[in-house]
Amino acid sequence: MAIDYERLTPIEVAERKRRRIFWAVLALLLIAVLVWRTFFTEWVVAQDDPLDHFKYGSIGSEGASGLPRKVFDAIPELYADHMQGQGWQYFGLVQEEGAALPVGFSRRKVDGIERVWLNCSVCHMGTYTLPGEEEVQFIPGAPSNQLRLQELIRFFIDVGRDPGLNADALLAVMDDTNFIERPIYRYIAVPAVKEGLLDLGRQLSFVERQHDWGPGRVDTFNPYKAIQFNFPMGPDSIDEVALNGAADYPAIWMQAPREGMQLHWDGNNDSVDERNLSAALGAGVTPVTADHAAIERVRDWLLELPSPRWPLDIDADLAAEGAPVYAEYCAECHGGAGATGYDYDRGRYQKLGTVEPLSEIGTDVGRWASYDADFAAAQNMLYAGTDYAFRHFRKTNGYANQPLDGIWARSPYLHNGSVPTLRDLLEPAEMRPKVWWRGHLEIDPLRVGYRSDEAEGLFRYDTALPGNGNGGHSYGTELSAPEKDALVEYMKTL
Ligand code: HEC
Ligand code: HEC
Repeated sequence: MAIDYERLTPIEVAERKRRRIFWAVLALLLIAVLVWRTFFTEWVVAQDDPLDHFKYGSIGSEGASGLPRKVFDAIPELYADHMQGQGWQYFGLVQEEGAALPVGFSRRKVDGIERVWLNCSVCHMGTYTLPGEEEVQFIPGAPSNQLRLQELIRFFIDVGRDPGLNADALLAVMDDTNFIERPIYRYIAVPAVKEGLLDLGRQLSFVERQHDWGPGRVDTFNPYKAIQFNFPMGPDSIDEVALNGAADYPAIWMQAPREGMQLHWDGNNDSVDERNLSAALGAGVTPVTADHAAIERVRDWLLELPSPRWPLDIDADLAAEGAPVYAEYCAECHGGAGATGYDYDRGRYQKLGTVEPLSEIGTDVGRWASYDADFAAAQNMLYAGTDYAFRHFRKTNGYANQPLDGIWARSPYLHNGSVPTLRDLLEPAEMRPKVWWRGHLEIDPLRVGYRSDEAEGLFRYDTALPGNGNGGHSYGTELSAPEKDALVEYMKTL
C-alpha cells in the first residue's frame, strides 16, 4: 500500500484547526476593537495647563448637547451672510490666534463622532482694551462681557427650523469626510442635529417672548427650568416679571474664601461645590454626562485664582482719602481691603455673604422673581442618591452681599448689569444713565467700567424695560462729589 504523503496526520489536522480558530478569534477581536473604538469610546483633548483646561477643556457637555465638530465648522460657511463673515466670533465669542475653537468650546468624541460644546469659560472670560490701545486683554474668571448668548440661542433655534440646514448642504461644505463618514452624517448625525435643535426650539420658545439680554448677560434660571425640568413656560405659567430675569455674568475668582457665603446674585446657595456643579448644568452638562474630574479641576483652580489688578496707575493720595469712606459706608456688607489683600473675614464684616432683603436693597426684582421655591425644590432633587446630591438651594428674600475683589473688572454693575460704571452707581438712581450702550471693549479709567456712550453695533440698554431697572442700592449716593471720586479711586485697589 502506497503512502499518501500529502495526507495530514491527525496531529497536523488538529494543529490547522487550532490555527484557523486562532485567526478567526483574532479577526473578531480586531473588528470588536474597531467597532468599540469608533462607537463606544470617548476621548477628550487633555489640557496640561489649568488655564488651557479652563478655556478649552471638556467638562462633559458634548455628549448631551454638543454639535458634531464638522457640523460646527460647516455652519459659519453656510450662514456666512448672517454671521457677517465673522464666524462664531459674530456672537461675541473670543477666538485666540491659532486655537482650534473659540474660548469656551471643548471637544470630546462620543458615539463615534467628535463633538463640540460649551465649558465654563464661555461665560467667565473677561476681555477689555485700554484707551488708545488695540490689544485685547484677557481676564480669566471675569464676566464674558461681549458674549451675546441669547442671540446665539435664537440662531440655533432658527437654523434648526431652516430647511436649508440639511445633509446635502452640510456635506457640500464638509469636504474632509470619507466614504464611511458620509452615510453616517447623512443618515444619523445630521438628522440628530436637526432633531436636537428643533427640541431646543420647543423647550426654549419662551426666549422669543423675553426682552433682549444684550451682550454679557444670560437668563440664568428660566432656560434651566425648561431644559432640565420641563417646567411649563407659556404666558399662563409665568408672568412678565419672572420671565425677564437676565443676569450679568459674575466674577468667579477666589472661591475658597467664598465657601459658606450665600452667593449667586440672590444668595440662593452657600456651597461652592454646588454652585460649580449647577453652573456645569448651565453649560449643557447633564447628571449622566458630567465629567466630575474635569469640573473638579476647574473648581480647584478657581479656589485661589487671584482677582485682577487695576492695569493703570492709581492716585495713591486720592485712594487713601477714599479708604475711610469705603470702610464707613460699604465694608460691612462687602468686606474690604486688609493689609495683604482683600479681607473676606465674615467675623469682621457681619453682613458679608448674607442676603440683603429686597425691601432694603431695592434693586430690580426680575432675577429674584425668576428663581422660585418650586424650582429650588426641583434642583434639590438633582444628583439625588449620589455624592453630588444638591441640598443647599433655597429661595431667598433679596440679593447677596458679595466681596468686591477685582470690582473694576466686573462692569456693568448690579446683578442685571444696569449701571455702567462705579461712579454712576454712586449717583442717586434718577441720576444714573437711563439709556446707554452696552458692549464696548474699552474701559473708562475715570468712571471705572466699560464705556457706555452710543456707538455703532452696540446694544441699546433701556433701564425702563422689565428686568433692566437701575434703581436701588442707594449707599454712598449722598456723599459729596470729591468723596465719590476718592471712593472710586480707592475701589481700583480692591
Ligand atoms: C451660560 C453661561 C455660564 C456658564 C457656561 C457657566 N456659568 Fe457660572 N455663572 C453664570 C451666571 C449667569 C452666574 C450667576 C448666576 C445667578 O445668580 O444668576 C454664574 C455663577 C457662577 C458662580 C457663582 C458666582 C457668585 O459668586 O455668585 C460660580 C462659582 C460659577 N458660576 C462657576 C462656573 C463654573 C465652574 C462653570 C463651569 C462648570 C460655569 N460657571 C459655567 C454663567 C455661566
Ligand atoms: C446693606 C448692604 C450694602 C451696603 C452698605 C453696600 N452695598 Fe453694595 N451691594 C449690596 C448688594 C445686596 C448688592 C447686590 C445688589 C444687586 O445686584 O441687585 C450690592 C452690589 C454692589 C455692587 C455691584 C457688584 C457687581 O458685581 O455688579 C457694587 C459695585 C457695590 N455694591 C458697591 C458698593 C459701595 C461702593 C458701597 C458703599 C458706598 C456699597 N456697595 C454699600 C449691598 C450693600
